[in-house]
Amino acid sequence: MNGPIGVVTIDGPGGAGKGTIARVLAERLGWHLLDSGAIYRLLALASLRADMGPGEVDRLAALAEALDIRFPTAGPEAGEVILDGAVVSDLIRQEACGERASVLAAVPVVRQALLDRQRAFRQPPGLVADGRDMGTVVFPDAPVKIFLTASAGERARRRHKQLMEQGVAANLADLLQELRARDQRDTQRSVAPLKPAEDAVTIDTTDLSVEAVVNAVMERVEARL
Ligand code: C5P
Repeated sequence: MNGPIGVVTIDGPGGAGKGTIARVLAERLGWHLLDSGAIYRLLALASLRADMGPGEVDRLAALAEALDIRFPTAGPEAGEVILDGAVVSDLIRQEACGERASVLAAVPVVRQALLDRQRAFRQPPGLVADGRDMGTVVFPDAPVKIFLTASAGERARRRHKQLMEQGVAANLADLLQELRARDQRDTQRSVAPLKPAEDAVTIDTTDLSVEAVVNAVMERVEARL
């Protein structure tokens, strides 16, 4: 690919399969991976630890800019998420962090403070970026933009299965309710709301296998390479 470093953006609501698809795609392409939700979750965890409320906007913006985070891709910590030098991969997946992340994500100065940090992931040979506003705000010039959706019921079932596999007890009806509340907040916020970019391709993953979705995305990428 000539010109700017290639980016594939994968946006969509929680449970639509973004994380899995983005990871498999990045492996197949040999490209870097940005899990932008993890950055919001890390900020959420750091703010909870610092006892900072969602209304403390100036402190939150300062915290977002100073956040000491790493996503090692090699060595013994490969694949882990590191905050202040310690592994927090499991902690940030907890519902409390997801919930707080979604609240903080609606604060404009927080989003602004995290923008450059996310754009810095655009390194050769290319980047697969997973989130809510990758195609609309963070990488508006991405040559391939994908928006993944799935029915709310299917997304809740996937989340339930994931939690069960991790040995975390969860109730399907509660998960569905939380997911709907999070969708509502993500789509209704005034800054960078969850929505497909105008030039995004939407794929409904409700009845599709991971392989089928990855192949559909790869076709688009290959057409643009
Ligand atoms: O994708 P994940 O569930 O890890 O993201 C946690 C929360 O972070 C989302 O509910 C959303 O509110 C927020 N987020 C966002 N923009 C992104 C990624 C995540 O607003 N690019």
